[in-house]
Amino acid sequence: MSAPLLEVRDLHVDIPLAHGRLHAVRGVSLSVGTGEAVGLVGESGSGKSLTLRALLGLLPRPARIISGTVLIDGEDVTGLPAKRLHRRLTDTMGMIFQDSLTALNPVMRVGDQIAEAPLRKLGKSRSEAKSIAVDLMRQVGIADPERRYRLYPHELSGGMRQRICIAIALSTKPRLILADEPTTALDVTIQAQVLGVLRQLRQNDQVSILLVSHDLAVVSQTCSRLYVMYAGKVVESGALLDLVSAPKHPYTFSLLRSVPDPDQRVARLLTIEGQPPDLSHPIKGCSFAPRCPFVVDLCHQQEPPLVPVGSASGTVARGSACCRVDTAEQWTSMVSEEVVGQP
Ligand SMILES: Nc1ncnc2c1ncn2[C@@H]1O[C@H](COP(=O)(O)OP(=O)(O)OP(=O)(O)O)[C@@H](O)[C@H]1O
Ligand SMILES: [Mg+2]
Repeated sequence: MSAPLLEVRDLHVDIPLAHGRLHAVRGVSLSVGTGEAVGLVGESGSGKSLTLRALLGLLPRPARIISGTVLIDGEDVTGLPAKRLHRRLTDTMGMIFQDSLTALNPVMRVGDQIAEAPLRKLGKSRSEAKSIAVDLMRQVGIADPERRYRLYPHELSGGMRQRICIAIALSTKPRLILADEPTTALDVTIQAQVLGVLRQLRQNDQVSILLVSHDLAVVSQTCSRLYVMYAGKVVESGALLDLVSAPKHPYTFSLLRSVPDPDQRVARLLTIEGQPPDLSHPIKGCSFAPRCPFVVDLCHQQEPPLVPVGSASGTVARGSACCRVDTAEQWTSMVSEEVVGQP
């Protein structure tokens, strides 16, 4: 079997504080295959953005990588000299951020912003770069790209601006797009269109996608495999269908129950009570235990590692970091019966 396009092993990121440190990413491992769309979901503050930014060397100060290994096509790139590492990462990956208005330069025509990388990084002539930019605008579903090339960001709608950001991310010909909440600022219809553009890129151009969102509905529309993050760790991973039909971690279960399901008469949506733990203090036991509806004494004693668990689909590996994973079917069915089907 060939190595995944991107693999991250045991990534740790922390943020120095006046007294101590915030251990924001606590040993995240993940992989993305060629042409695969993978989702990273979890509540606000779970460490999704820091994980993504760490991958591209774009951590905000004072956050820093403590340890971890990044492999591209199976090659450990972590030890490369800084310049070569940056080159290798940016050649492979492009990033899209949540807020297209601040991501774009307000005083530069949008087309020129897309043409910049072909011009400066790929060494294309001005006219070649422009024609690449126009093609990219067309590829991300912008009609009449020659005219729109000349517009400034404020002259475009939020959805159009986000398409421009996708085109910029594609302009260096990356094999993988890292997208951090790319549709959160958009209304539902435009959100669906932008996610459609990402899906098409994957299907038609084999571009891999690592999509970060706090919204399970968004990743479900786009990704076939998920990593669920909680308090700086991956607590469950596996095929979307496996996770949605039979979650093996109470946090995934709670996330699912807090998403309205149009096909089921969910009478009452569960909200996840309580707050995630303060990661500036050491965690004792499972980090989700204080909020877990299925907690037992054992959960407070040790933090469970992510271990392989059986997959219904059989082909995609799945894992769960729950002390009670063996009895997952019992607890999920118990609560499902309580919640579903009531008037
Ligand atoms: N520049 C920073 N300075 C201090 N703390 C930070 C900084 N950036 C992130 N953090 C903290 O690190 C933790 C993880 O942040 P991160 O932005 O990765 O979360 P997230 O999962 O992306 O959340 P969201 O869904 O809100 O974007 C949070 O507790 C956050 O407050
Ligand atoms: Mg974030």
